[in-house]
Amino acid sequence: MHNVVKEYYGNVLTGSKDLQTNACCTDDNLSSSVKQVLANIHDEVMARYYGCGLVTPELLKDCDVLDLGCGAGRDCYAIAQMVGEYGSVTGVDMTDEQLAVANRHVEYHREKFGYKKANTQFLKGYIEKLDELNISDNSIDVVISNCVINLSPDKHAVLREVYRILKPGGEIYFSDVYADKRVPEHLKADPLLYGECLSGALYWNDFENLAKTVGFVEPRLVNSRAITIDNEELTERLGNVRFTSATYRLFKTVELETDAQDYGQSVTYLGTIENHEAQWNFDGSTCFIAQKKTKVSGNTWRTLQQSRFSNHFNFEGTFDKHAGLFTANNQIFDFANELKQDALSASCCAPAPKIESSCC
Ligand SMILES: C[S@@+](CC[C@H](N)C(=O)[O-])C[C@H]1O[C@@H](n2cnc3c(N)ncnc32)[C@H](O)[C@@H]1O
Repeated sequence: MHNVVKEYYGNVLTGSKDLQTNACCTDDNLSSSVKQVLANIHDEVMARYYGCGLVTPELLKDCDVLDLGCGAGRDCYAIAQMVGEYGSVTGVDMTDEQLAVANRHVEYHREKFGYKKANTQFLKGYIEKLDELNISDNSIDVVISNCVINLSPDKHAVLREVYRILKPGGEIYFSDVYADKRVPEHLKADPLLYGECLSGALYWNDFENLAKTVGFVEPRLVNSRAITIDNEELTERLGNVRFTSATYRLFKTVELETDAQDYGQSVTYLGTIENHEAQWNFDGSTCFIAQKKTKVSGNTWRTLQQSRFSNHFNFEGTFDKHAGLFTANNQIFDFANELKQDALSASCCAPAPKIESSCC
């Protein structure tokens, strides 16, 4: 499958316009700060964007970021502006043609961003084998990825490697395609469906369980949108399998419990994350209002405290007294229902339907 994918992204596609479905397409529901960042990126890089979501987590200044399957580098050059001159961005991809475009514009972006030294580099390699690229254990603050992991024939190896290279408290924040059921083998073998980021997709529940087995105990869904296959022939080939593009964040947090438990703990958001002064959405079901005490599970308490967000919160409580399962902020993601709503409102790159939050 590596060769099928290299051929597809290296030779079959010449730009985003050649895609057959909206599995990989640019979301136009962007904040003005993100629009500003994208406006600084070279046209050739923008034209070869094949992502399926927005992978711009907050608080990236001075971070070391790795982009899995960076392609022509759109997200790398966006994040390069967010980490600033003293942060770094490394893009990894296996396809020469994609890397050629990314590499061609390193100097253009250095100058555009006004940096003395470029903070962006691209490495040729496989995302299943980051060790071969000498990416050390516990060395990366944030991993991003945009519509790539579905294309990997060994998703377990990818997640295992990500867990290895992340610093304690670090996260992978990534968009990808998920199926509402396991994809039949004959569809996985179809090069067009695979290349279009559909038939390599994991059933969402298998993905969450896989993430848990490598150590990402509590996968956090950020948002999702339905994928419409605007091609009758492909729709027929896919039968009753439906696809969603979703953004998850997975934290490398120690001492998490399998289920969210209630110890009566709370946190208060200080309103200090740039562009999120009034409230900050941690994920699709957990949002924090500035200066308001919010009850959290033991897992959320630990995840925030071990992460780069810890200075932006006051933490209250201990793990001494247990009060049962935590329910207040924690919504079980109803994938089937979400898909139904997505389908009703879907158009190419429609704004991602928000999962209703319990506090906002
Ligand atoms: C759908 S494109 C997305 C590219 C980029 N993230 C973007 O948003 O434009 C998928 C990219 O992942 C790369 N890729 C897929 N599987 C890979 C693997 N196992 N190792 C390294 N790169 C891979 C492909 O070469 C291609 O450039």
